[in-house]
Amino acid sequence: MSISEDRKELDSYINERVDIDSVASFKGNEHIVKLKLKFDIEKIRKSLDDIKAGAEFKTAASGFHAIAMTKRKDSSVDSDKDLVGRYYTRVDESYKEVAKDELVDEASFCELVDIFKGTYFETIYDELSARYPIGRVRILEKDSFNCNSWHRDPEPRIHIPIYTNPGALFIVNHHCTHLPADGSVYFTDTRGYHTALNGGFKPRTHLVATLAYPEYKP
Ligand SMILES: [Fe+2]
Repeated sequence: MSISEDRKELDSYINERVDIDSVASFKGNEHIVKLKLKFDIEKIRKSLDDIKAGAEFKTAASGFHAIAMTKRKDSSVDSDKDLVGRYYTRVDESYKEVAKDELVDEASFCELVDIFKGTYFETIYDELSARYPIGRVRILEKDSFNCNSWHRDPEPRIHIPIYTNPGALFIVNHHCTHLPADGSVYFTDTRGYHTALNGGFKPRTHLVATLAYPEYKP
């Protein structure tokens, strides 16, 4: 390649108009889908504020906090290790995949934790459970400037953003998008490699429900 050809090549990109608007909204693909189901965001927020007065987020990882919404049948306490389950990740330049943490029997998490009973979250749980095989459900709070590991899970997830900001993004494989908190329900195919990051100035809070389908074996 000559110098002038290389300049021309770059010029063709420089002259493109840069879109700065669409990143402030949702853009789906086959791995991140906005479902038809929708809830009342004001009721969700009000209910969460009430619950936060009586329940504490537990730190699941650095800058990443969780309140368990479901528990195993007849168990009185939720175990800390249940906040994180089996995931697969590539840790170094060998690009080899390794399994981390324990497999969780998602289907056994079929009871609502007491503090959520009688709240709008119970309505959401009932509506979700009537439609999909719901396993662990957690309220996940991500601090400002925090990011999850790059990993894949045994099962896909449902996300309902509760509090967010334009810098809170979800990435699955090569696709990245912001998920506005307007009561929308999103299917995220976390059987693909993914991470959630909060590059914004405020914490981000999502309801995350595991879909208890049998483990996906690639
Ligand atoms: Fe995940």
